[in-house]
Amino acid sequence: MDDADLQMLKQRAPGLAAIYHTGRESILHAADVAALEQARVTTLGRKSALTEFLRSISTLPAEDRPLVGKGGNIIRKELEALVDEREVRLKAAALSTSLAEERIDVTLPGQPFPAGHEHLISQTMREVEDIFVGLGYRIAEGPEVELDYYNFTALNTPPTHPARSAHDTFWVVEQRETMPEAVVDADRGVLLRTHTSPVQVRVMEQQEPPVYVLCLGKVYRRDSDATHTPMFHQVEGLVVDEGITLADLKGTVAHFTREFFGGDREIRVRPHFFPFTEPSIEVDVSCELCGGKGCRSCKHSGWLEIMGAGMVDPNVYGFVGYDPEKVSGFAFGMGVERMAMLKHGIPDLRLFYDNDVRFLRQF
Ligand code: PHE
Repeated sequence: MDDADLQMLKQRAPGLAAIYHTGRESILHAADVAALEQARVTTLGRKSALTEFLRSISTLPAEDRPLVGKGGNIIRKELEALVDEREVRLKAAALSTSLAEERIDVTLPGQPFPAGHEHLISQTMREVEDIFVGLGYRIAEGPEVELDYYNFTALNTPPTHPARSAHDTFWVVEQRETMPEAVVDADRGVLLRTHTSPVQVRVMEQQEPPVYVLCLGKVYRRDSDATHTPMFHQVEGLVVDEGITLADLKGTVAHFTREFFGGDREIRVRPHFFPFTEPSIEVDVSCELCGGKGCRSCKHSGWLEIMGAGMVDPNVYGFVGYDPEKVSGFAFGMGVERMAMLKHGIPDLRLFYDNDVRFLRQF
């Protein structure tokens, strides 16, 4: 369209320039893709001023129609091109903002997932297990609901021993309604094992010497106060072989305490009594808090009791068919809760079973 045509067009169709300028403004000012679409509809849509104008060409004098029609179409094309151009720009801008806003730093650490961990009692049992497995011991298991025979009788515990009484033992089926006639039936009583020692008898029934086993598990006693819970955990060790002496027991326990508590701990052995060991001992470990000088936690003795032990009583071999002239052995038993308390300085037994995660998380 040359200048003359343009002049002519301005005269014949004065509204067209206004249509162009308004349309152009709204297209160029559209701030985003949605606003641009809105501008496109108002400027170029079926109800727009431009479309009305183009439709009304037929009402113009015939000689004006070609020029006005041509001018209208040029303006429509131009506005359409503006829309396309603006759309490309707006889309590019939108893309770069979203890239910037939604940027993900793949090098950031992930969200921590609380996985939890083993209870301190289980951890302590695994630790003790590792030490003895390292010495060549095998892990043995036995039932928690046990026969009187294994818990008491075969461990050389006389029928009248106080540990058998209803005060100390949870009976499942008590055969001793009356004393002393029913004492004969005592073996068939069923109880919650009061210690892990019945596993000794079960192991010896099952295999010939040499025996090197460790048994860990729950035991039950009718006790409940600040230092006793009705259920707790024990570790039992049993060795039967030729020529085993108390020196082997002491050496084994010394090795264990060094591994479990750390290198500078001393042990001390005191005489004691258990029905199924002879001689029987109790083992103490030196108190770490005071270095053996004596403090509140060791009751000013410098020593902490950690286990009962002894040489297997020859009478016990009689129950399992071992020849006490050929073999000898030792057994020891300790409380897992007590070991964990001593190792980590835990003041109250009940903390293990309150299941307060603030306590448990520390280990
Ligand atoms: N079973 C004994 C107790 O529970 C501990 C022990 C085990 C003692 C093995 C000697 C030998 O007290």
